Amino acid sequence: MSRILITSALPYAAGAKHLGNLAGSMLPADVYARFQRSRGRETLYICAADEHGTPAELAAAEAGLPVADFCAQAHEKLYATGRAFGMSWDHFGRSSSPQNHRLTQRFAQQLWEAGFIEERVTQQVYSLADKRFLPDRYVIGTCPHCGYEAARGDQCENCTRVLDPADLLHPRSALSGSTEIEIRDSKHLFLRQSAFAERLRTWIEDKRGAWPHLVTSIALKWLDEGLQDRGITRDLEWGVPVNAMDWGPNPDGKLPDIAGLAGKVFYVWFDAPIEYIGATWEWADARAAEAGTGPAPEADWERWWRMPAAADVTYVEFMGKDNVPFHTVGFPCTLMGVNERRDAEGRWSVASNTPWKLVDNLKGFNWLDYYGGKFSTSKKRGVFMDQALELLPADYWRWWIVANTPESSDATFTWEQFRDQVNADLADVLGNFVNRICKFAESRFEGVVPEGGEPGEREVQLEADVLMKLRELTGCLEDREFRKSTTALRQLWVLGNQYLTEAAPWTAIKTDRDRAAVVVRYGLNLAALFAKVSEPFIPFAAEKIAVALGEPFPGRWPSLEQGRGPLSALPPGRPIAAPEVLFRKVEEVQAAEWRERFGGSEAAAEPA
Ligand code: 2FM
Ligand code: ZN
Repeated sequence: MSRILITSALPYAAGAKHLGNLAGSMLPADVYARFQRSRGRETLYICAADEHGTPAELAAAEAGLPVADFCAQAHEKLYATGRAFGMSWDHFGRSSSPQNHRLTQRFAQQLWEAGFIEERVTQQVYSLADKRFLPDRYVIGTCPHCGYEAARGDQCENCTRVLDPADLLHPRSALSGSTEIEIRDSKHLFLRQSAFAERLRTWIEDKRGAWPHLVTSIALKWLDEGLQDRGITRDLEWGVPVNAMDWGPNPDGKLPDIAGLAGKVFYVWFDAPIEYIGATWEWADARAAEAGTGPAPEADWERWWRMPAAADVTYVEFMGKDNVPFHTVGFPCTLMGVNERRDAEGRWSVASNTPWKLVDNLKGFNWLDYYGGKFSTSKKRGVFMDQALELLPADYWRWWIVANTPESSDATFTWEQFRDQVNADLADVLGNFVNRICKFAESRFEGVVPEGGEPGEREVQLEADVLMKLRELTGCLEDREFRKSTTALRQLWVLGNQYLTEAAPWTAIKTDRDRAAVVVRYGLNLAALFAKVSEPFIPFAAEKIAVALGEPFPGRWPSLEQGRGPLSALPPGRPIAAPEVLFRKVEEVQAAEWRERFGGSEAAAEPA
C-alpha cells in the first residue's frame, strides 16, 4: 500500500486569511488527508507559514514590530485558526526555520555546482536614505497612465497596469518616503529554468488527463511562451541569506562573487516550496524531541522525499491556480537540478531521475469569490477565517466550502446560498436523521442497539443502495473530486432519511416490536456509518455522532466489498445516547445581518 504525502500551498504570514484561502488549498487537502488516514494508509499532511518576502517586511513595519517577531506571531495565529477549522496537519511549520535555511542553501549550492545557477547584473532602484536596494513594490510614485499618486513600482493599483519602477513620476521610497533614489547595478543569482524546458514538457505532457485540465493547461502555457531564467535572490534583510554558504566551484571552475552577494536573501518563491521538505524535517525533529531522542536522523524525513526510500510515496499537492506555475515549473526545476551524486570526475550532473520526489498529483483550484467580486481585507469585504468561527462552528464552513469547491470554474459565496445549503444538508438531512433515530432508540429501546428480528427485503435493498453510494463516494475522494464527493455523501445521508420514513419504526412498534428493532438497528448503523464517512468533511459533528454511538473516532473507512455490509458494525445491546442538536439552522435574520456586516451584493460592483 502506498504512503500518501500531502502538502497544501503555504499561506503567507502577512495578511488575514479569508474563506477563499481555505477553499483553494488547505481544506481540500485536509479532507483528502483525513480520508486517506481512515483508509488505513500512512499519511503525512504538511503545511507551513510562508514567512519571507516583501509583504512580510512591509506588514511588520506597519505593525511596528521586528519582522522576526511579527512572523512568529503570524505563524501562531495561522496555526491556531487552522486547527480551529479542523486542519489535521501532521506539522505546520515555518519557512523561516533553521531546517529550511539549511535545505535552501544546500539546494542552491548544488544547483550552482551543477551549473544551473548563474550570476547576472541587473539594474535596480537604490535608496540613499534607506541605504538599500528597493524591490519594485517598495518604490512608490505617480502612475504615468492614470495619475494615481500612490502607484507601486510593480503595478498601479488604480488602473492595474503593470509598471517598471523607472516608469513612475516623482518616485520615492515606500520605506522612508525619501526621493533620494537612483538606479544602480546589483548582482543576482538566476536559476537557469530554460535548461529544463524539454524535461518539464515531457513530464507535464505525461500528466495530461491525470491532472486537472486547469493545471496542465497553465503549465503548458508557460512552457509554450518559452521558459525564462528566473532571478532567485532579492535585496532584502529578512530571508535565507545567500552569502552564508560554503559554495563549491561550478562546472567552469568558478566560485560565486560572495562579496557581491552580501546582504541578499533568496527569493521567497525559491525557498517557500523547499519548505515542504523543510517542514517535514521540522516534523521529524519535533517528534524526536518529544521522544527525547534529540535531532531526528535524516532518514526519518528523507523517507518521504528522497528516492529510493520514498519509492512507495504518492505525493499530492493542493493549491490555487495562481500557484500552479511555481509548482509545475519553478519547484520542479529546483528538484530536477539538485542531484547530489557526483560523477566519476567528481562533477555534479543531472541524472535522468532526480533523487527528490516530484509531485505525483497536483490538484489546482479556481477562485472562490464573494458575491462575484474579490474578498478584500482593505475594503472589508467578505468573511475572514477567524471571524467565520465567531459566527458558526467550523463544520458549517467546511461543508459549504467543500460542496462548492471551485474545481471546474470559479465559485461564489453568498450568505443566502450558504444559509439554504447548510440548513438543507446539515440540519434537515444529516442532523435530523441522527436525531430521529437516536431519540427513538432512547425512548423505545432503552437506549441500546436493539437485538432480535430478521432483516427483510427493505434492508437488503438498503445495503445495496448504501454500498453503491459508498463506492461512488470513495471513488470521488480517491480522484480528488470534492464537489462530487459531497453530492455522493449527501445522497448517502438521504438514503437514511428515506429508509426511516418508509420503514417507519414508530408505526411498526405498535404491532411488531421485532420489526421495529430491525429498523432501529439498521438506522443506528447508518448513523455510525455516517460518522465514519462524514469525518473528512465535518469532523466535529462526526465525532459527536461516533461518541453518541460508542464508536471509536476517527473510525476506519468501511469496506466496499459485497457481503461485508457496512450496516452491521454496532453490536446489539450496546448503549447509545442521542447527541445534542448537531446543527442549528441559520436563521434568515442572521444571514441578513451578516450580509450587512460583511458586505453583500455591492461587492461585485466595485473593483477589489
Ligand atoms: O500564494 C501564496 O499564498 C503563497 N504563499 C504560496 C506558497 S506555496 C509554496 F510554494 F510554498
Ligand atoms: Zn495607473
